[in-house]
Amino acid sequence: MRFIDKTILPGDITPQAVFEQRRSLIKAAAAGSFGAALTPWFSRQAFAANPDKLAATLNPTYSSKEEMTPLKYVTSYNNFYEFGTDKADPAEYANTLQTRPWTISIEGLVKKPLTLDIDALLKIAPMEERIYRMRCVEGWSMVIPWDGYSLSKLITKVEPLASAKYVEFVSLADRKQMPGVKSSIIDWPYREGLRMDEAMNPLTLLTFGLYGEVLPKQNGAPVRIVVPWKYGFKSAKSIVKIRFTEEMPKTSWNQIDAREYGFYSNVNPQVDHPRWSQATERRIGDAKGVFAPKIKTQMFNGYAEQVASMYTGMDLKKYY
Ligand code: MTE
Repeated sequence: MRFIDKTILPGDITPQAVFEQRRSLIKAAAAGSFGAALTPWFSRQAFAANPDKLAATLNPTYSSKEEMTPLKYVTSYNNFYEFGTDKADPAEYANTLQTRPWTISIEGLVKKPLTLDIDALLKIAPMEERIYRMRCVEGWSMVIPWDGYSLSKLITKVEPLASAKYVEFVSLADRKQMPGVKSSIIDWPYREGLRMDEAMNPLTLLTFGLYGEVLPKQNGAPVRIVVPWKYGFKSAKSIVKIRFTEEMPKTSWNQIDAREYGFYSNVNPQVDHPRWSQATERRIGDAKGVFAPKIKTQMFNGYAEQVASMYTGMDLKKYY
């Protein structure tokens, strides 16, 4: 695996210090501790002038206290095969993706199907920030502040039928905007899926931003899913369709190689990938680089308390 850190993107101009400042402002605002005279100039400016900002409130209940991965790594070391298979490709080529206008349809086994413009979708529920650990099946991990709201808020609106057992996520696949779609590595569009209870779990985040700004294109703008207790490939990017089904949906990586990538793909240090161990991981952006000590991977990526009960009685070696 190659790591190339050559791209400076527009998102990179928000240094960590400014982000931290903004975060304490958000917290102070939430706690109601702002006096008019104390409100510094940048708090007003941040939310009024810049359309790239997302006014999200930190949700401490669902946030890791670990050190966050610096923004430049989050936006330059990506998997987004629609733009190429190299980790540096998405940052280099995703600028051709048109993220507005963008419509998403919510369909299938629901009482109230919906077709929504991205701006309407943004307003369905208050924007929260969640600092999640993310673990890629390839053995690396990051800690990322995502901005969005629980997918369950949207699901409740469409009123799924009792027969809806699964939710399928379909990404955009447009050859004109996505050079990687010419390759036949994936049977496009990229598809992922969750069982209904997984989709309804409050941790599953319908995501519009990271580090307080709208999603960079390489991270799946304008809307993606983030499922922190599963390997990264379950978190489908740039989605255009959410479909409720009775049958378990076909998913892209499972179609590529069912033996290596199961439907569940819960982070599980006890179940190895057929070609490598999943017991440890390497944090991207650690100051020690490739010499950084590997850290132990946690069951369900450290979210066991919130999610383990969904899998009680299941053989997780079989349902990998
Ligand atoms: N979604 C789409 N549409 N296409 C992809 O290639 N790659 C997945 C997932 N979602 C992918 C995708 C994989 S393998 C990972 S690890 C994560 O996105 C990476 O997300 P990030 O680049 O924001 O860290």
